[in-house]
Amino acid sequence: MRESSSSRVYQRSNRVHELTHEERAIYDTLDPCRIPQHVAIIMDGNGRWAGKRALKRFLGHQQGAESVQYVVETASRIDLQWLTLYAFSLENNLRRPKSEVSFLMKLLKSYLVSNVKRMNDNNIRMAYIGRTHELPSEVQDTMQWASEQTAKNTGTTLTLALNYGSRSEIVDSARSIVHAMLAEAAKRGISLEDMLAAEGVDDAIKARIDEPQIGEHLYTAHMPDPDLVVRTSGEQRISNFLLWQIAYAEIFVTERLWPDFRGPHLLEAIADYQQRERRFGGLGETSDEDLSDVLPTETELARQ
Ligand code: FPP
Repeated sequence: MRESSSSRVYQRSNRVHELTHEERAIYDTLDPCRIPQHVAIIMDGNGRWAGKRALKRFLGHQQGAESVQYVVETASRIDLQWLTLYAFSLENNLRRPKSEVSFLMKLLKSYLVSNVKRMNDNNIRMAYIGRTHELPSEVQDTMQWASEQTAKNTGTTLTLALNYGSRSEIVDSARSIVHAMLAEAAKRGISLEDMLAAEGVDDAIKARIDEPQIGEHLYTAHMPDPDLVVRTSGEQRISNFLLWQIAYAEIFVTERLWPDFRGPHLLEAIADYQQRERRFGGLGETSDEDLSDVLPTETELARQ
């Protein structure tokens, strides 16, 4: 079930004493009532980080995995409920050299094996989104093991987007709705056609395919939409990440390359987010302009 921001009880995290001095100085400038519920990060720049140091790309990814652990632990210390990281896209899987894909898979496995204890120490729960069933089976086994080992944790949920693409997620949602409709018809012992015809086809389809239903069939159905999307390495792109879910998210782009991104940078992104006025298509709190003198009255409209 999605939790609305209004149903959440906000309070200062009781783990702030675990922040570094640098993190604490930034955290103290934040409004604890306006910590986002969900931050999603497009981790970019591993290759450039390595290139700048004349290192092989894989060393950039290795350093990037270190950043993942620093950032998720800081997130857990400030009680961020949901952190979603774009770790491996469908396009990465299809377009990167096989050797790099296979290195990333090994890195993921070893990251999970080495960090499950730290996840438990920090009350972090592991989850995944994406076409994960297409990943190598030994990677899937380790992923399942890590999520089982951390399933009882109640702090931050770290979701890794793996073999993930947002357009394919929306396609999967549509397919899943059709399967649900077929299951419903089968349960009633009638054909899909008869089931829809009985209610009037248009009405029956509208009742079963609408925005909430598409959301309910996305991989992210159980989480709130991201409030803040962070992208590292300066690229101003969304790259097929959570397209549906970030309709009203704030976007923060930093020039910093992912392997250099740490807890203080997450907190700086949140500080920037707290300066924004979120309007969700409305006018926001600061606009109370009276338009009654400008707009025609009902009588004037009737005369026109
Ligand atoms: C983008 O850098 C990053 C990726 C393709 C993968 C992200 C992977 C990690 C952060 C490390 C492993 C993660 C886990 C969870 C263990 P890039 O290679 O596109 O960089 P570039 O644009 O500078 O070439």
